[in-house]
Parts: sequence; C-alpha cells; structure tokens
Amino acid sequence: MINLLFIGEIVGFPAFEFVKENFNKLVDKYSSDFIVVNGENICDGKGITEREANELFDLGTDVITTGNHIWENWMSKPLLKSNDRVIRPMNYPPGNIGKGFTIVKHKILDVNIAVLQLQGRMFMQTIDCPFRCADNVLNLISNKYATDIIIVDFHADATSEKVAMGWYLDGKVTALLGTHTHIQTADEQILPKGTAYITDVGMSGPYDSVLGLDKKVALNRYIYQSAYKFVPAKNDTRICGVCIGIDEISAQAIKIEKFIYPEFDKMITL
Ligand SMILES: [Fe+2]
Repeated sequence: MINLLFIGEIVGFPAFEFVKENFNKLVDKYSSDFIVVNGENICDGKGITEREANELFDLGTDVITTGNHIWENWMSKPLLKSNDRVIRPMNYPPGNIGKGFTIVKHKILDVNIAVLQLQGRMFMQTIDCPFRCADNVLNLISNKYATDIIIVDFHADATSEKVAMGWYLDGKVTALLGTHTHIQTADEQILPKGTAYITDVGMSGPYDSVLGLDKKVALNRYIYQSAYKFVPAKNDTRICGVCIGIDEISAQAIKIEKFIYPEFDKMITL
C-alpha cells in the first residue's frame, strides 16, 4: 500500500517554518511514502520561489502544487519553468509557463504516480474548462505513461464545482482533493468507484486570522470595501492535510483520513 500525505496550502513564512519543523513528525505518524504539498501561498500569500521549493524537496516532498496566486510572484515563474515537480493549474490558456501535471516514480515501489492540478472557474478567472482539460490529460496519461495512480489537486472556490468534479472523476483518478478555500471540510470519503475525495484539505497557516490574512486588514476590506495591503497573520499556526491509503495494484484509494495538527480544542468549560 502507498501512503500519500497531502499537506494543505501553506500560508506565509511563519507557517512555512512550522511545517518544516513538524514535517518528519507527520511523515512518521502517517507512515507516508509519497508526499504532495500545496505551496501556493508560502511567500506571504503570493507564490513560492526556488528556495522554499528546494527546502520542501530536501525534506522528502515529491510534488508541489500551487494555484491562482502563483502568477503574482515573479520569482515563481522561473521555478515553474525549471522544475517539473512544481506544477500549476493545467487549464490556464496554452502559452503560460509551467506544467499542469507531472509523473514521479515512487521512492520504493516500482510504480509511477501522476499528480495533476486543475482550477475551477466559479468565482475565479474564466480559464479553460477543467472538466474537458481533465479528459484530455487522463487520455494523455493513459496513452503515454505507464501509470494508473493519479492524484488531482482541484483548486476551486465553489464547493458545488468541487463536488461535481468529484463525481466526474470518480473511478478515473485515485484522489480528487480540493484546495483554495483554506477551510477543511468534513466530507472526506471514498466515492463509489474508488476515488478518495474531500472538498477542501484546509490551510496550513495561522488560524488567528481570516484565511491567513491579518484579522484587522480583512475586516477593513469587508467594512470599507476598498483595498488594504495583504498582511499575513502569525498566530495559532496549524497544519491541515489528508493521508490516503492507495492500493498500488488497483490504483484505488482504500482510506482517507483528514487531520489538523495540532487539533483544535473542542472542550467547553461551563
Ligand atoms: Fe488559491
């Protein structure tokens, strides 16, 4: 069995330090042998550079996914160009820098694993259709590469679009994992045809915040409806993710477990 560890969007440099400090602990806890990290927001909400990517690869990360904010950091573009294991959503118009999927050999087993990233269109840029893009890439992967294990990071805002994609890809991919909204959802499940699914993996970042953004800045944006500079929050950092057990013969998911580290205190003192 392959144990995939997927670490949700890292938001800000303090959270990046926290992830690095606790990376091995999580890998050991979940016996992870394939690791995907969403690094879209490491540079205080805007992209990832070669330095952070190399640190994640040195820790044992296999693939880094990103998202819509990757384009806001000019230093991310050379990284997308030079490193095949850092991917961005596939369905941006042709001609953009970078790749939307990558194939990586498992560290121990003689299997290849494809990681694909797609982006939704509801409440986001009106880029190419993620559903048709998924069809095209899955055809390409099955015709050209010897792999049936396919992990998809679906970076989308609308829960309805993510659920729809889950049904669309059930049985065609091993896992369909939602990112972008930063709030972990409680609907992790194995869909009927064997695809692991969660609407959003959640944020690895400061929870004393509004999705990683300083609370005062976020409130000003809502109350005054004008622009305020992005200021990352710093406190109450937690790591969100999922661990997925994959049968390497059938390429189907056997289990999915979500986690928040450290967990929220759910006790109420009356
Ligand atoms: Fe995003």
